[in-house]
Amino acid sequence: MAYHYEDVSRTFSEYLLIPNLTRKDCLPSNVSLVTPLTKFKKGQKPALHLNIPLASAIMQSVSNDVLATALAKCGGISFIFCAQSIESEAEMVRKLKKTKAGFVVSATNVTPETTLGEVIALRDKVGYSTMPVTEDGSATSKLLGIVTSRDYRESRDPLDKKVKDFMTPFSRLIVGQEGVSLKEANDIIWEHKLNTLPIIDNKQNLLYLVFRKDYEEHKKNPDELLDSQKRFVVGAGVNTRDYAERVPALVEAGADILCVDSSDGYSEWQKQTIEYVKKQYGDKVKIGGGNVVDREGFLFLVDAGADFVKVGIGGGSICITREQKGIGRGQASAVIDVVKARDEYYKKTGIYVPICSDGGIVHDNHIAMALAMGADFVMMGRYFARFDESPTKKLKINNNFVKEYWGEGSERARNWERYDSGEGKKLTFEEGVDSFVPYAGKLKDNVVVSLAKIKSTMCSCGANTIAEFHRNARITLISATSITEGGAHDVILK
Ligand code: IMP
Repeated sequence: MAYHYEDVSRTFSEYLLIPNLTRKDCLPSNVSLVTPLTKFKKGQKPALHLNIPLASAIMQSVSNDVLATALAKCGGISFIFCAQSIESEAEMVRKLKKTKAGFVVSATNVTPETTLGEVIALRDKVGYSTMPVTEDGSATSKLLGIVTSRDYRESRDPLDKKVKDFMTPFSRLIVGQEGVSLKEANDIIWEHKLNTLPIIDNKQNLLYLVFRKDYEEHKKNPDELLDSQKRFVVGAGVNTRDYAERVPALVEAGADILCVDSSDGYSEWQKQTIEYVKKQYGDKVKIGGGNVVDREGFLFLVDAGADFVKVGIGGGSICITREQKGIGRGQASAVIDVVKARDEYYKKTGIYVPICSDGGIVHDNHIAMALAMGADFVMMGRYFARFDESPTKKLKINNNFVKEYWGEGSERARNWERYDSGEGKKLTFEEGVDSFVPYAGKLKDNVVVSLAKIKSTMCSCGANTIAEFHRNARITLISATSITEGGAHDVILK
């Protein structure tokens, strides 16, 4: 006879938090959302952590290099999607790792032979006027000068005038040398009243530009998630098929952590993938596993060597796995079960394995609930797909702006490796849909509001840290009528 679970499979909306004592020090400004990303021994610190408990999903319509940069600026992490060629995934990772916070590889460059007409056309195309002049017009060749809008009079100068005749030449430029810190670079910018400081190596090759406005931006993002060399932290997805080629390419590109992208992580293919990474790289390369929804799945992945475990099957907004295959578990029940297993494992071994609740987050209070239930961070697709920085098109439909959002198991994504049944690339049925989500503007503007709500919930529960939230949260199951009572009711809404 099949095994029957005693408990009903439940979702986040079926629970509420009962306030716990709010101490005087429980203030949103005192709340730290720092959370572990990789497993660690009792009394030690994790090798990697997040400054905010948010990760973006390993999905084509969510996590590219642009969104990854915006999220790292806020303190979270993106896992770059793996349903693309190894080269293009590695290139996205490389783009992030090339950018030190505040140090930008110059995107628009000209040569001494470029004409004023071409400079103006470029300016109109990219929307800014500062362009380094390099020997071969690339971002990393010898720096010969800089052109800004102050170097020419558009209405008077002939359009065929060459850059070499109006640029500010290298001899008159203030530059920073390779290895200069961001603080030192900004001191130079202030001292010399510059807007842009080129950073060069000892052969005068251009490396980066540091902009005055970026420093101000950096000051506005105190939670930026940076590695020891002040570069943005980024994760990357891998599959259980081509890992022997993909993993080395991603490691070489500088990915800080990998995660196996699979709809069902309780499989021997997943174990094989994680074991491959651990055998090849030991503890130097971190890898998360998933997705699982119960203690057996959790222990299986931990045993294989997973650095964190991702929880959730069938709860994603674009997911139809439960309909198609009858496989899955209510997200709250899955998190509760896996957290119990994690805590028991910690007691027994002294090793804490972070848990990521993946999929099914609809409201900000669901993020808080997942954390209260013991998750260390959440992964979201729909939430991030709505923002300017996501890779998909913004469209106007029925007078509303929307963005496209499609599942990895949809015909559109064709990420069949995620749904690997062990018999190669083949689509028999879809497990995801192609959809629209309401456009919501800039990532940062939304993340700030979500975090404010989470911090406020934590204060109500007497918690200033996520670990304290795990200990102090008091959770109650609610009836259907309490759910109705929880929204605005019995009033005529304006
Ligand atoms: P969301 O935040 O509710 O939109 O869920 C995103 C999560 O759904 C992802 O992180 C994946 O775990 C999962 N997912 C992505 N694509 C598919 C799909 O096509 N079918 C089922 N689950 C998917």
